Amino acid sequence: MIGKDIATASQLLADGKVVAIPTETVYGLAANALDIRAVSEIYSVKNRPHFNPLIVHVPSLDAAKKYVTHFPKAAEELARHFWPGSLSILLPKNEMIPDIITAGSPHVVLRVPNHPLTLQLLQSVSFPLAAPSANVSNTVSPTTANHVEHGLGDRIEYILDGGECAVGVESTIVCIQEGGVVILREGGVSQEAITHKTGLPILPHTPATIQSPGQLKRHYATHKPLYIVNSFDEFIRNNPQTTCSILYYEKPKDTLNVTSYFLSETYHLGEIANQLFSILRIADADSSDCILIQPIKPIGIGRAIQDRIQRAATV
Ligand code: TXA
Ligand code: MG
Repeated sequence: MIGKDIATASQLLADGKVVAIPTETVYGLAANALDIRAVSEIYSVKNRPHFNPLIVHVPSLDAAKKYVTHFPKAAEELARHFWPGSLSILLPKNEMIPDIITAGSPHVVLRVPNHPLTLQLLQSVSFPLAAPSANVSNTVSPTTANHVEHGLGDRIEYILDGGECAVGVESTIVCIQEGGVVILREGGVSQEAITHKTGLPILPHTPATIQSPGQLKRHYATHKPLYIVNSFDEFIRNNPQTTCSILYYEKPKDTLNVTSYFLSETYHLGEIANQLFSILRIADADSSDCILIQPIKPIGIGRAIQDRIQRAATV
């Protein structure tokens, strides 16, 4: 059922049930992070492999401190600037966080989401919420309650409807190393914003860095093939038997004679991020054989968009 009732969501969660919740990035599939049975239900509902750990959502920086052995100064700096918001921070967990959350790792990823309904919900329960994106593993992440209903509606009792997600791509995941920030997953908060707001340097992601096990090469997959091409014209000329849908970053002067979607009218990266998953779903469901998109400028949130497109693409 889709609804806006925080009390219903909060009661179901207290009973150990799984509930879909809105965040500013994408919808999450939430359960009591301290209840092993409830957390294992998340894995089975999503069909998620157990080696892929879950982000834990808390209502505030103070609440986050309850679940870690240590909160480095640089992490505190990040939290003060970006929480509530689309930044998830990897920290050393304490014994309150069960191993099933972190897939056995001694580190937990924590975040304070920036969505009024979910912040109220987090304040109304006495436990943190583990929540991966509310989609079947390896499918496109949901940015509306209807997307969740479409993918998981028959497997969960309640979807808390908080409208369309404002950011539209998942949070940025970082860890702290030697006083700098390592990006484990590009997302809603850009590298530029991190350095601009905190002055912390961005350090390279080396093989020695903790890996984010969920970063599989092909992810966010559409059902039909998606190709990243430099020239739509050329692809269409070379593949005359294939019908294509095109995703544009801005309104072109002349559109080709195929189904076209505009992620933005003006190449606005925030708008493109916001529309990406919704329009991918629509293009995936239309009658064409494949989806075409161009490479995006890898600046700001463009890096997260590029990452999602590359993982969705057929190589
Ligand atoms: O915006 C978001 O982050 C959304 C909303 C719901 O908060 N959540 C989300 O969760 O995208 P999910 O599960 O779809 O992606 C979480 C990523 C995975 O790649 C996972 O491997 C990584 O975070 N992760 C979680 N805990 C980790 C840990 N302890 N160590 C390393 N990577 C971790
Ligand atoms: Mg996900």
